[in-house]
Amino acid sequence: MRLLTLAAAVALVTGPAAAQDYPSKTITIVVPAAAGGPTDTISRITALAMSKHLGGQQIVIENVGGAGGTLGTARVVRAAPDGYTLLIYHVGLSTAATLYRNLPYDTRQAFAPIGLITDAPMTIIARSDFPPSNLKDFVTYIKDRGVKTTMGNAGVGSAAHLCGMLFMSETKLNLTTVPYRGTGPVMNDLLGKQIDTSCDQATNTTGPILGKQVKAYAVTTKTRLKSLPDVPTADEAGLKGFELAVWHGLFAPKGTPPAVVQKLNAALQAALKDPDLVKRFNDISTDPMSQDRATPAAAERTLLSEIDRWAPIIKAAGQYAD
Ligand code: MLT
Repeated sequence: MRLLTLAAAVALVTGPAAAQDYPSKTITIVVPAAAGGPTDTISRITALAMSKHLGGQQIVIENVGGAGGTLGTARVVRAAPDGYTLLIYHVGLSTAATLYRNLPYDTRQAFAPIGLITDAPMTIIARSDFPPSNLKDFVTYIKDRGVKTTMGNAGVGSAAHLCGMLFMSETKLNLTTVPYRGTGPVMNDLLGKQIDTSCDQATNTTGPILGKQVKAYAVTTKTRLKSLPDVPTADEAGLKGFELAVWHGLFAPKGTPPAVVQKLNAALQAALKDPDLVKRFNDISTDPMSQDRATPAAAERTLLSEIDRWAPIIKAAGQYAD
């Protein structure tokens, strides 16, 4: 008889039992960005809906901002793979694999993906008293302004950084980027007129745009958003083919028992059909991901293919984080 190591024996006995009883305590979802930003907002709505399908088990959100989301992500990678510490993040998970050359984890191997949640549009915005009235004048004004124009983001690797990087290379503008621990604080400084511009997710900017608290120059979708009908697409506004949507996904650490992954995926799939979640997502200009993309396999495919997609773009821009 092959002698099992003690750990393997324990895992053999407790794994299925632990998975059977899962969840038996509070689940933590780490959001690797500050509270009040788009990732935080999407996560809180999703956690509330998922809880209903996990026996009412409490799901708490823990904000761990900094370093473009890699600090919070590393926290989850190091956590016990038992289903009680999860991550909700977005395309920044894939871009960090190229941007950060000393990541303390291998993005391709570190996760047990659960499923994708939403694809959020982005918006090019400025403080409400920024003079240009359209994107064409915006570009000319900044070029001719002669003083530095600031653009807030959530650190190298954030969606706001990615959008800003693409926007600057497309327009040949040289904006002064100001990194924050999330675009919640970026929005606060835009409202306070402490910074000039940002490219942030519509899930964070729809309210301030509709309330005329910030100026919107474009949305980064193929067609205009139902919730922001007066905001032109970037393509209409002169940035031909400028499209960017920010996929968000739910991830567990590698080694999480398949039965736990399955339970979490079932709860996610049910949550994405929850009428309250759908309405709250629609109110902030986004939609729940289709069921076929809210699967572990689809999330894995997206995570890996996006690493390959963004690597050459990032290398060409030469904008590494370290
Ligand atoms: C990002 O730009 O990556 C996100 O907006 C960060 C956040 O959710 O605050």
